[in-house]
Amino acid sequence: MFIISLSVFRYPMTYLTLVGSVLAMNLLAYLQSNLIEVTRPLSGYILPTIIGGVIGMLLSSNRVSCREKREEQKRLFIDIVQSLSIALDERDAYTYGHSSRVTDFSMALGKRAGLGKLELEMLELGSILHDIGKIGIPDTILNKPEALNSEEIEMIRQHPIKGERIIGLSNNNKIQMIVDCIRSHHERYDGSGYPDGLTGTDIPVLARIVAIADAFDTMTSRRVYRVKLTPQDAVAELLSCSGSQFDPQLTRQFSEVLRGEEFKMLLENESPECEPLLVPHP
Ligand SMILES: [Fe+2]
Repeated sequence: MFIISLSVFRYPMTYLTLVGSVLAMNLLAYLQSNLIEVTRPLSGYILPTIIGGVIGMLLSSNRVSCREKREEQKRLFIDIVQSLSIALDERDAYTYGHSSRVTDFSMALGKRAGLGKLELEMLELGSILHDIGKIGIPDTILNKPEALNSEEIEMIRQHPIKGERIIGLSNNNKIQMIVDCIRSHHERYDGSGYPDGLTGTDIPVLARIVAIADAFDTMTSRRVYRVKLTPQDAVAELLSCSGSQFDPQLTRQFSEVLRGEEFKMLLENESPECEPLLVPHP
């Protein structure tokens, strides 16, 4: 009973349901007393309070179990989506864990930028799935150590559109937020990005966040076509592209996030493998 009570009081609406039931039962008892014109002593409200409490508890428990079931289904869905992105990352040892790290950076930045609960939920899925369109690109191109030719660059530049097709255009606002994030994560703040050449805040905020997190992880991870930068150099690179490639406010907030408790170890542990970019892929 104690455990049930605890779970009931975890959510404000279940608390209101319980209080409402008790009040409703007492109101009924009061009206009944007036109807038959009998004065009801104070102790006469104990039974309606107990009955109201039990009814409220049952209704609240049902509400809690439905809510927990929804949370469980949501978690299961996110786990499946994560498995999909891990399968994508595993095509190349160099990109292993990329989607997961981009998600961690994106979520930290999203929270710092003050996104709401729904936006953060969609950001989590959008960042996990941001490169899902690369599924259709041959490994020989993704992992090519030399510079890509124009045809190969064009093929890689199609991955945001392919990702949009994989997840699907939707009338559902939530799914559309994820789809927009995937389509626009290579847009640049000054309009020189792809696939639509969007500028500034016309680029969906989730995509602006993922663009920064994606660039940071790409620069600080070793890839077959280049060696990695130190986190410090990567942050400096992000800040130097603030306002041209990246949203200036979000870039500043990201540098603050990296100095925070969650990631400060990253900046303190400077890697000895620091070398400049060789042949960056788009
Ligand atoms: Fe991408």
